[in-house]
Amino acid sequence: MTAPSHDRLLIIDFGSQVTQLIARRLRELNVYCEIHPFQNVTEAFLRDFAPRAVILSGGPASVTRADAPRPPRALFEMGVPLLGICYGQQVMMDMLGGRVEGGKISGGGGTAEFGRAYVVPQGQLGLLDGWFDQGREQVWMSHGDHVSQLAPGFAVYGTSPNAPYAITADVARHFYAVQFHPEVHHTPKGAKLYENFVRLAGFKGDWTMASYREEAIARIREQVGDARVICALSGGVDSSVAAALIHEAIGDQLTCVFVDHGLLRLNEAEEVVGMFRDHMNLSVIHAQEQDLFLGALEGVSDPEVKRKTIGRLFIEVFQKYADRIEGARFLAQGTLYPDVIESVSFSGGPSVTIKSHHNVGGLPEKMGLKLVEPLRELFKDEVRALGRELGLPAHFIGRHPFPGPGLAIRCPGEITREKLDILRQADAVYIDQIRRHGLYDEIWQAFVAILPVRTVGVMGDGRTYDFACALRAVTSVDGMTADYYPFSHDFLSETATRIINEVPGINRVTYDITSKPPGTIEWE
Ligand code: XMP
Repeated sequence: MTAPSHDRLLIIDFGSQVTQLIARRLRELNVYCEIHPFQNVTEAFLRDFAPRAVILSGGPASVTRADAPRPPRALFEMGVPLLGICYGQQVMMDMLGGRVEGGKISGGGGTAEFGRAYVVPQGQLGLLDGWFDQGREQVWMSHGDHVSQLAPGFAVYGTSPNAPYAITADVARHFYAVQFHPEVHHTPKGAKLYENFVRLAGFKGDWTMASYREEAIARIREQVGDARVICALSGGVDSSVAAALIHEAIGDQLTCVFVDHGLLRLNEAEEVVGMFRDHMNLSVIHAQEQDLFLGALEGVSDPEVKRKTIGRLFIEVFQKYADRIEGARFLAQGTLYPDVIESVSFSGGPSVTIKSHHNVGGLPEKMGLKLVEPLRELFKDEVRALGRELGLPAHFIGRHPFPGPGLAIRCPGEITREKLDILRQADAVYIDQIRRHGLYDEIWQAFVAILPVRTVGVMGDGRTYDFACALRAVTSVDGMTADYYPFSHDFLSETATRIINEVPGINRVTYDITSKPPGTIEWE
């Protein structure tokens, strides 16, 4: 992963839950940064990476233990600005000649501290420009150990009642170290602290989407040469932006395959294929394989069997179409930075599979293809910014995520064409309602699930016996946790009335108010 024409900032990850947020804050300042786990950061790595500045993240370890993770000593002799956060502060103090002690949970002296705290200034420091105009500043503390003696050269610039060394610095060497977490939301002015740090380190803030686009295009051309590239276009934001970018780099050498598994939303295939083929002039194969997928899913009601069946067929179908493209040597994928960052693991235990995710993993080896992954350095919102830069329509870029297995996992129980048709129509009415009320962009994801039960109703003078459906709408930052969206009662009753009036086959509407956890976003 290289971005040679920009100054680079290195984030050494000691395993904090919020290390990615540091990268987010820096990217917002147009600073190019990479996160690397401490295990990988050797002296040779530092020399190769040649950072303009380094941030040492927080982490769960204790420097009071002999086996605590430490950066190479050479880090302190490189002459680059450093910023240590929480564990990062402690490891700096420990290695530079100060002292760190284990925290006592409450009680006198330095203590373990979790939560909101208020820091007051103690002298002037460039890192704190624009801070403390209210006299004190709210910060978020989360530490067990604490610094009990500063390393030589360091002085204190901010204290809180429980953290006498909340903000410390060795100004001559541009070494800064704070006890709290400036990257989290609960440190409201934390971004300013990062802004000051990168300014003091001399970053120009020149890592913009326009420059990324130019560099990414040059890199794709260099990697691919005159070979052909194939791309599984799903209509999702990531694969769409990847395809648009690669197309700009190599034009007709790119062929996209859009697999229509019959589990798409109303008019979705036409919209995606229409946009890419007709408006953007991409070469798109529309693989109409509805019968194959729906046939294989007949009688299947187990969610994992559904997911595995769809995943397996997807790979088979994609391969069949890709085999017809002569000279294809590369497979394009919309892999994002969060998938690439190696996480720091202290325990290494296996985690439980909640759902088997649908992706094209394993395909490249099977087909002897090399990967082109032009979004590997980007976070999701940066991919959206790049999409705008490439001229993709705003409504397309802002679309809610849609899962690979599509409507199959929104149709609990057996999937039939009849149920899918009803589901598509109900979903279209629901999304139309959300858009009309101006709520679409406030919601991470909204959809209808058709339930495997029929219920009795009365319409006009007649009895009905039709399907029940559930509306789902959640807010979320990354899909890992989610809250149900608090629609007004008026919105819900208007929507229920519209669905029952406009969608034959549904006579009962419910609203799913489960958060994640304990629920998941999708029903299966
Ligand atoms: P869950 O249901 O696990 O969903 O809470 C979290 C997010 O992931 C999406 N999702 C998938 N995306 N392939 C995908 O590309 C899948 O197999 C898949 N399953 C769930 C889901 O829509 C939500 O955004």
